Amino acid sequence: MSSLVLTVRIAALSFAIAVLGFAIAGARAADDLLVADFEGESYGKWKVEGKAFGAAPAKGTLPEQMHVEGYEGKQLVNSFVGGDDATGRLTSPDFEIERPWLCFLLGGGHHPGKTCINLLIDGKTVRTASGPNDRPGGSERLDWHSWDVKEFVGKSATIEIVDAQRGGWGHINVDHIVQSEKRRGAAKIVREIVADKRYLHLPVKNGAVKRVITIREGEAMVRNFDIELADANAGEVDFWAFLDLQPLAGKRLAIEAVLPADSKLLDGLKLADALPSADAMYAEAQRPQFHFTSRRGWLNDPNGMVYYDGEWHLFYQHNPYGWNWGNMHWGHAVSRDLVQWEELPIGLYPRSLGDMAFSGSAVVDKDNTSGFKTGKEDVLVLAYTSTGRGECIAYSNDRGRTWHEFDGNPVVKHKGRDPRLLWHALTKRWVMAVYGENQGQTIDFYSSPDLKQWKFESRTPDFFECPDLVELPIDGDKGKTKWVLYAADGKYLVGDFDGKKFIKDSGKHQVWHGDFYAAQTFTNSPDGRCVQIGWGRNVAFPGMPFNQQMTISVQLTLRSTKVGPRMFAEPVAELESLRTAPPIASVKNADLAEGKNALAGKQGELVDVTATISLGDAKRVEFALRGLDIVYDAAAGTIACGKYAALLPLDEGKLTLRALVDRGSVELFAGGGSVAISASHRPAADERGMSLVAKGGAARIESLEVYELRSAWRATSAQSNATLKKN
Ligand code: FRU
Repeated sequence: MSSLVLTVRIAALSFAIAVLGFAIAGARAADDLLVADFEGESYGKWKVEGKAFGAAPAKGTLPEQMHVEGYEGKQLVNSFVGGDDATGRLTSPDFEIERPWLCFLLGGGHHPGKTCINLLIDGKTVRTASGPNDRPGGSERLDWHSWDVKEFVGKSATIEIVDAQRGGWGHINVDHIVQSEKRRGAAKIVREIVADKRYLHLPVKNGAVKRVITIREGEAMVRNFDIELADANAGEVDFWAFLDLQPLAGKRLAIEAVLPADSKLLDGLKLADALPSADAMYAEAQRPQFHFTSRRGWLNDPNGMVYYDGEWHLFYQHNPYGWNWGNMHWGHAVSRDLVQWEELPIGLYPRSLGDMAFSGSAVVDKDNTSGFKTGKEDVLVLAYTSTGRGECIAYSNDRGRTWHEFDGNPVVKHKGRDPRLLWHALTKRWVMAVYGENQGQTIDFYSSPDLKQWKFESRTPDFFECPDLVELPIDGDKGKTKWVLYAADGKYLVGDFDGKKFIKDSGKHQVWHGDFYAAQTFTNSPDGRCVQIGWGRNVAFPGMPFNQQMTISVQLTLRSTKVGPRMFAEPVAELESLRTAPPIASVKNADLAEGKNALAGKQGELVDVTATISLGDAKRVEFALRGLDIVYDAAAGTIACGKYAALLPLDEGKLTLRALVDRGSVELFAGGGSVAISASHRPAADERGMSLVAKGGAARIESLEVYELRSAWRATSAQSNATLKKN
């Protein structure tokens, strides 16, 4: 036993007691040799350089630091002394390697070589490890880490703990360094499979520890994601996610994860030809019936919206393996009518956990300006943000089914994201409108002849995330157009765009309110219609295997109003194909006496309401649809849908509205589409009632129609499987 180990043992009374405890509990732990537990009043014989480590071990969490946990005893090495910017180094005295494993608790920043613990033999670093955190959030937890040092037994070694990193996660935490017969903590567990079935089913438990899964084919990493992996054997599965093995069909694959050394978690993954719970797909209790949701996992922004040869393509930000945001893939669905959606295999996979596929858009390159075209089909080109590289281009020659990266990626490198592509006919150039953070929060415009070479043109200030830019005729007159520029929050500017610069007419306006974000419009729409879909942000489905929905497809138009041209949003006509006959209620030209319910006794589940009501003397007109209130307040001049309200000037005293009720939301379009509201609402299954009441006076119903809607899924679920097999 080296003298260092001896001194530390004597100095650290707490450890002596712990050793005694271990000795009684079992023989193995008693064999461990303590290198350092940092429980003394100083670092003892360790050499201290710089400021980051202070003069003595830290007593837990330091000022301004998140809660530090997972260390042993009362103290640890914590280089957050003076915050993240301080640097320094701790070096141990020499000691002899006497056991096959060197184990320690490790936490802090992941900056290999900069925030790290190193083992040196003959002055050379032979082992190194860095902390786990490299992004905001994270946790100040220390976990066991073990080095296999068999080959060095009998040699003299030193340990250094280094903090040479300033800024975010520029610190390292270490505690309890021991020599041991056995490794401690996590180990890389590998399960080998042959991809001879279509899917790999993955058990998920919300809130379980996130495990990082890496799938390799030989040395090459082919998939890398994190997942709240459930212990399937313990029956703790909330839902089964799936990984599509088709792109890896027939391959021999290694599934790797760092797990507690004896973990059997990977045994719970199952190969199968069918989707998990295939029979119940789209038949789940809370599955929205005419809003797009993903079969499994999380979705957010719509991406790559493009129409091509009979198909509307909807890609979307997607975590296929979790109920919450993460692992950003591009999910993919197509529709022939904007009503029935068929989910297809993943469009874009993230390259790794640290290089995700964030939002972007797609176009049809009809003239093959890019030169990417290989076959008979027009080539589709998309732009997306690779979080590790910048704005990237990919193309598809098979109707959007498979995508290939442009080998010159990234095409734009800057601080920003969410590239929006469009063709500018006058300048015969492609345009990329992209969110930029180089000079505040802006939308930046680039131009390109071929979708590969991009030139910066200008920027428009005060916008955040997910830009869209469209040219719309005013009142349908193609000779009179204006450009509309908007971003994720739906606020927009009307103005002119010459292919290089956007010049606004006036300030920002807004059509959409409520649970609505990051919308996009389809490029190459067949009939010149401008069709938009947004993310129904906050429309959550607790207890379901999926989360969040898209809003319905709306047609955007630009109409002249007293205050200038403004956008209007109305549900696309195709949605009416879901109406079942006869209507639940149909009223024409009838007085609505104060306090009388015009929908008394009416019931519905998926409901489509259209109404024109003359307010008359009424102060308020109130609908209640399956427990959600829609209220027009004459004094305030506002329309409210659930908790969201917007100003709505009436046209000749008449309130017009359309409301669509699904299992997760109510969407309202009022004033001919001058106001649109998406409100998250999950009615109880037996909450089917409806009412329409005038308050403070009588009103008059000019027209009122209420329809029950069919599900958009039933027709497609079988078809969906058929297409999947074909692919
Ligand atoms: C908007 C957004 C985008 C980003 C994406 C990531 O909701 O934050 O800016 O590309 O989501 O999922």
